[in-house]
Amino acid sequence: MLKTINQSIRTGISFSSKGIVARTHATRFYSVKLTSSKYPALKRSEVFKQLNSDDLRYFESILTKAEILRPSDSENLSLYNEDWMRKYKGQSKLVLKPKSVEKISLILKYCNQEKLAVVPQGGNTDLVGGSVPVFDEIILSLNNLNKIREFDPLTGIFKCDAGVILENANTFLNKHDYMFPLDLGAKGSCQIGGCVSTNAGGLRLLRYGSLHGSVLGLEVVLPNGEIVSSMHSLRKDNTGYDLKQLFIGAEGTIGVVTGASILTAPNPKAVNVSFLALEDFDKILKLYGKAKSELCENLSAFEFMDKESMTLTDIHLKGELAFPLGENEHPFYILIEVSGSNKSHNDAKLESFLEGAMEEDLIIDGTIAQDETELQNLWKWRETVPESCLSQGGVYKYDVSLPLKDLYSLVDATNARLISKGLMSENPNDKDPNKPAIGATGYGHIGDGNLHLNIAVNEYTKEIEEALEPFVYEFVQSKKGSISAEHGLGLQKKNYVKYSRSPIEIQMMKDLKHHYDPNGIMNPYKYI
Ligand code: FAD
Ligand code: MLT
Ligand code: ZN
Repeated sequence: MLKTINQSIRTGISFSSKGIVARTHATRFYSVKLTSSKYPALKRSEVFKQLNSDDLRYFESILTKAEILRPSDSENLSLYNEDWMRKYKGQSKLVLKPKSVEKISLILKYCNQEKLAVVPQGGNTDLVGGSVPVFDEIILSLNNLNKIREFDPLTGIFKCDAGVILENANTFLNKHDYMFPLDLGAKGSCQIGGCVSTNAGGLRLLRYGSLHGSVLGLEVVLPNGEIVSSMHSLRKDNTGYDLKQLFIGAEGTIGVVTGASILTAPNPKAVNVSFLALEDFDKILKLYGKAKSELCENLSAFEFMDKESMTLTDIHLKGELAFPLGENEHPFYILIEVSGSNKSHNDAKLESFLEGAMEEDLIIDGTIAQDETELQNLWKWRETVPESCLSQGGVYKYDVSLPLKDLYSLVDATNARLISKGLMSENPNDKDPNKPAIGATGYGHIGDGNLHLNIAVNEYTKEIEEALEPFVYEFVQSKKGSISAEHGLGLQKKNYVKYSRSPIEIQMMKDLKHHYDPNGIMNPYKYI
């Protein structure tokens, strides 16, 4: 049984005249349109060679059958050509899945000489169209480079191949009483190399910091095939430029990450989670300030979800899990996680914090997990939001940093914009099939000033995209935010980098790209 903090305060406040009434039957099983047909302005570069039989013969000479995937093979090539959102689709006819770093080096060296374009791919959970080809680029999958290399239980330094799946790395570390300092909803598929290449932030960044801090070293294959082995175990190393930082968040544009050395964290002995309802966004900010000052080093996550995102999640879970607070009737929800070394201390801190928050009228209702199953179930209401937003057909995703006071205003502004353009019903009960947008939802990482604005739609259309872009980016720029908090730029934000970076910064990025990848073979057509 979940323990409800304040049953009597459930007053059933009704929120938002434009709340989401999602379709109960998902319509997502349509065929994905080719990126090149959706964006005809994108043209295949004449610089790149078309794959021919000589190229295939070369790859067959250095790789085994199991390391090469072609359209005639039984494994479905579309798994590699289509992205997780079913928004982008490339036309690659070749997936290479090498089992060693040396083979990756040979592949890149050859591709560079022959001007064959390459897209590195990890778990293909990217949310900005970065992990799939646009045209016929060769897909270089890291799936087969998946060994844990070493672990030092004293320092917590963990070294692995880039293709190790995040959840597998964490399971390994848990056995040694350590944890990976990054956690995210895609952990069952995303790979360490993919996370490093997007600089993924995830659910506990406020406690464990970003990969720019916890990655101690990398092994990278440059586009010309050179292997840079810097799998350091040093926490301090000020020997000139910190070159590994270039590859953290580079999205596969200047090399392939093949290994990573990571500083992991001791596994907390006690973890607890509380799920709370709040009546307005201002109270979320007050609660966050209180959590920082009272829960201090024990605070390990402070996540928010709006009512709309919970409605979609409820529909997506189809009753599999009861809503933690009986009815989804409040405008905002917060998931707080505390973790530490002492259970009674941890629990006492959380309970006294929640009592204070109720006395100060910051929370309306809430519940605390009483055991591991309840804890996991509460997290499920947060971690399932991304796929729930997608489950109605499609989703336009914007992942932005904004000053906390402005964070939620973007969701309201977006709903107003879609209604004014006639793309979304003002009345949620009006299931007008001519309105392609279902509604905007907001959720994300309050502790990191990171909003996930998701617009659930029945289908991807030009009209919705034109209503949202550059509108969302202009809004973010006007508040001095970032158009990419944690997902990266990929193909989606290719034309919008200028909303967050100055001309000189963009030029420096181009210079770097040109220096390391003069033939431009690495992940072309994307943000650089
Ligand atoms: P891919 O998707 O395969 O690739 C991502 C990018 O990196 C691409 O540009 C690709 O070309 C490049 N790349 C991949 N591997 C390599 C390599 N070895 N060397 C060089 N380049 C490479 N992100 C967050 O930041 N926080 C979250 O909380 C979060 N939650 C998510 C939840 C869900 C359900 C999903 C689907 C995604 C989520 N993401 C989140 C997006 C996030 O970017 C990815 O999950 C993850 O970081 C990508 O890892 P991947 O192995 O799937 O990489
Ligand atoms: C999350 O925080 O859930 C992820 O970044 C994925 C998403 O934005 O949908
Ligand atoms: Zn996120």
